[in-house]
Amino acid sequence: MDCTLQIFLDDRWVDCAQIELNGSRCQWNHPVMYAVEHTDAQLSLAESVDTDIRTAPTMPAFLYDLVPQGDGRRFLLGELKLPDGPDADFPLICAGAFNPVGRIRVAEAVDYFETHVARHPTARGLPGLTIDDVVVRSSEFKETMFLHGMLGTGTTGVQGAAPKYLLTRDRAGLLHGDAVLRDADATQHLIAKLPRGNSAADGKVLRNEAAYMRVAAALGIRTHADLPTLHGDVLLVPRFDRIASGGKVVRLHQESVASILGLSGFELRPSLFEVVAGIRKVATDPSTETLEFIKRDVLNLAMRNTDNHARNTAMQLVEGKVQLTPLFDFAPMYLDPQLIPRALRWYRPDTRVELTDWADVLAALPVSDHERGMLAQALSQFAVQIERLPDIMEAQGVDHDIIEFLTRSIDTQVGQLKALQPPETHHAASEPTYP
Ligand SMILES: Nc1ncnc2c1ncn2[C@@H]1O[C@H](COP(=O)(O)OP(=O)(O)OP(=O)(O)O)[C@@H](O)[C@H]1O
Ligand SMILES: [Mg+2]
Repeated sequence: MDCTLQIFLDDRWVDCAQIELNGSRCQWNHPVMYAVEHTDAQLSLAESVDTDIRTAPTMPAFLYDLVPQGDGRRFLLGELKLPDGPDADFPLICAGAFNPVGRIRVAEAVDYFETHVARHPTARGLPGLTIDDVVVRSSEFKETMFLHGMLGTGTTGVQGAAPKYLLTRDRAGLLHGDAVLRDADATQHLIAKLPRGNSAADGKVLRNEAAYMRVAAALGIRTHADLPTLHGDVLLVPRFDRIASGGKVVRLHQESVASILGLSGFELRPSLFEVVAGIRKVATDPSTETLEFIKRDVLNLAMRNTDNHARNTAMQLVEGKVQLTPLFDFAPMYLDPQLIPRALRWYRPDTRVELTDWADVLAALPVSDHERGMLAQALSQFAVQIERLPDIMEAQGVDHDIIEFLTRSIDTQVGQLKALQPPETHHAASEPTYP
């Protein structure tokens, strides 16, 4: 079984890779012309553009960012009449990755989608929806969902466990399934995210996600200029991998840290030290991104966003710069009825022992003493902001019981960050090296 990947460059889709899967052997390469003409347009920040033929027992890690998950996966498995499991990943990409997040898609999936649309000729001309139609799941909304069978909204192109739809706003302000509106008519791209389940706790997590994102923005964490907004039980999240202007759409490179670390599959849990190493390897400004990542983790701990798995952090290429994307999927996940423990932790590279104090984490980071000092200084200043978290959360509309519950975790973070030594008085041993 094989497929062709396409990348969106200068307003058109260009063939960029050939993938072949034979049993447990996967082989892939760039077409020669692509390797010659587009050396700067990598499929993954961890892969160079060249004429090499790569062979491995699994699909390349970056393809896992394109595998349909959640509702989109279930829907497509039904359409393809396939049992679920790792063997389904490749066929799911070949049918479902016609319109994923980022700027890479699968040509065969585009054909699959076109065939599907051809079977539903009326699907093209459906009226646009208002946000109220989406919120109350109006008859128009249901028509859109059923006619497109989730494909038209691009549901198979966005990962994650919560049900969600990719929507695009037209010039009149109405919403359409992302896959059916032409770029020329698009003015804004959004993800409509619904609660993960039917329980009250699921609703509470999603309701507070909007407030959590405002808190992060207030603390100076990198967030999208347009923050998510809550409409009934629908969180409307403006996308940061697309820029629509003047009748054209720019699609930005976006890639999870799981992909950057070369992790094939969904269950792998790297140490946060490995995550930082991966970010630093590809970032244009490694020290800025390291500080940004650590601040996000301080907030994850203080505000108990436990679901910090390796696909909840991603990097993007924007205006020639490789950096962490704006924050996403930041919510009080400790409330999730599925009891989600903190997924990734700081396991010391040499001993594999978990470090739970920032002084220990900083001491073990393989950075220069100068950078370590800068990190310590920035984080001890951050402590002052973290101390004000209860008031900031209150102002941004986080539920009171959540604010109360977080008292202890906030205190722990404040205590640890305040204890960090500023650079002048810092006498840490020189850069640690690991075998
Ligand atoms: N604003 C955004 N712009 C572009 N891509 C985004 C944005 N928000 C999320 N994504 C992408 O969509 C994916 C799913 O979103 P999100 O993580 O919020 O969903 P989720 O269902 O809560 O995920 P999980 O299973 O981790 O709980 C993310 O992994 C990321 O790749
Ligand atoms: Mg997620």
